[in-house]
Amino acid sequence: MTALRVRGGRPLRGRIRIPGDKSISHRALIFNAIADGEATVTGILESEDVQATARCLAQLGAPFVNGRVSGRGGALSAPSETMDCGNSGTTMRLLLGAIAGQTFGATLTGDASLQKRPMARVTKPLADLGADFVGPHDKAPITIQGQRLTNVSLSSPVASAQVKTAVMLAALQGQGTLTYTEPALSRDHTERMLGAMGIRFDRAQDPSGAHTITLEGPQTPQAIDVEVPGDISSAAFFLVAGSIVPGSDILIEHVGVNPSRTGVLDVLESMGADISLNNVRDVGGEPVADVRVRSATLEPTRIGGALVPRLVDEIPVLAVAMAHANGESVVEDASELRVKESDRIASTLQILRGLGIQATEQSSGFTVHGQSTADMQPPAIDAGLDHRIAMASVVAGLPLSGETKVLGADAIKSSFPTFIQLVDQLRD
Ligand code: S3P
Repeated sequence: MTALRVRGGRPLRGRIRIPGDKSISHRALIFNAIADGEATVTGILESEDVQATARCLAQLGAPFVNGRVSGRGGALSAPSETMDCGNSGTTMRLLLGAIAGQTFGATLTGDASLQKRPMARVTKPLADLGADFVGPHDKAPITIQGQRLTNVSLSSPVASAQVKTAVMLAALQGQGTLTYTEPALSRDHTERMLGAMGIRFDRAQDPSGAHTITLEGPQTPQAIDVEVPGDISSAAFFLVAGSIVPGSDILIEHVGVNPSRTGVLDVLESMGADISLNNVRDVGGEPVADVRVRSATLEPTRIGGALVPRLVDEIPVLAVAMAHANGESVVEDASELRVKESDRIASTLQILRGLGIQATEQSSGFTVHGQSTADMQPPAIDAGLDHRIAMASVVAGLPLSGETKVLGADAIKSSFPTFIQLVDQLRD
């Protein structure tokens, strides 16, 4: 495997448009595939994860062709072969929910990383709703047999939008009421999109921050056209790079700024980053803005509690920002990082140590002793099968004049195939 080599030390300046939001892209395809009618999806993320969803939906009889997808009022077709979800947890978990109430069975699998990720968090609540599984179903490959689903009241120990979405999709095909509680609000793209598709449900938040959805089935979504905004999780790499590389000034256009996703903006602002949101507007029920970042001196910070689900995918690159903030920064309550595309506590520590930074690992977080750039070295990282670790490693090296080496950078295609191209464009 050849390593990606990136030489840092040059400011990033200019205007970019980042690709579509991954979460919204998956949902636009899956929800329209189980809807009534035909819809156009524009601005979709063209990455391997979303292509995996499109491929699986084609096997279920709802292909995405020329930007359009058609649903048949909730009915899907039995796939003739195993469905390959690649590296994409969202594909597997959401599709398990979409299939749980169908009249057929299906087997879903994925790559070596996906086969290690916990699936019981989805299969257990789906079984409680009445779905059947053939054989073990805590890890991929998983064989699900759709069933007539019933009433259920569920409470999840983790704030996971994937779990929430899977049970909501299942409940749409059920014959009773789903009550689902998560300990803190996870990203709410599902609620927004299903609401726009005419699905009726209640949302409530208790004083502890726990969030409950009540949804009565059966209900059929009405197809809607979706314009996918840019992905703030992809923008995050440029928000950090623009902050830590001296002399940078980047305008990132058309970024989704749904409050359940903007923890990264709150944290960078608390660190003293120079970020401004311009031209805030509504695009199909999702807030969107043009975001400008200019380099700044960063202060240490703390991340924990209900903030974690609002920035869970951004923690590796925020750790890079922490490395450049003189003093001690802390990440806690983030054990979910252990079960992402890699163990992201361990792999983030690998980046920090590669920079020559002192960092200590805890079971559900880490502590970073930020220092001056002059004392850092460009890291050499093996990103495994983790796209965000590969991109965070590149960002870590951008302020340094030497050469950063990233093994496994091919994984970047999962979520942001044009990442390196955009880095180069901003440094021309
Ligand atoms: C996602 C939700 C998050 C996130 C993932 C995409 C989604 O996972 O990490 O990249 O599209 O619902 P969890 O919901 O499991 O935290």
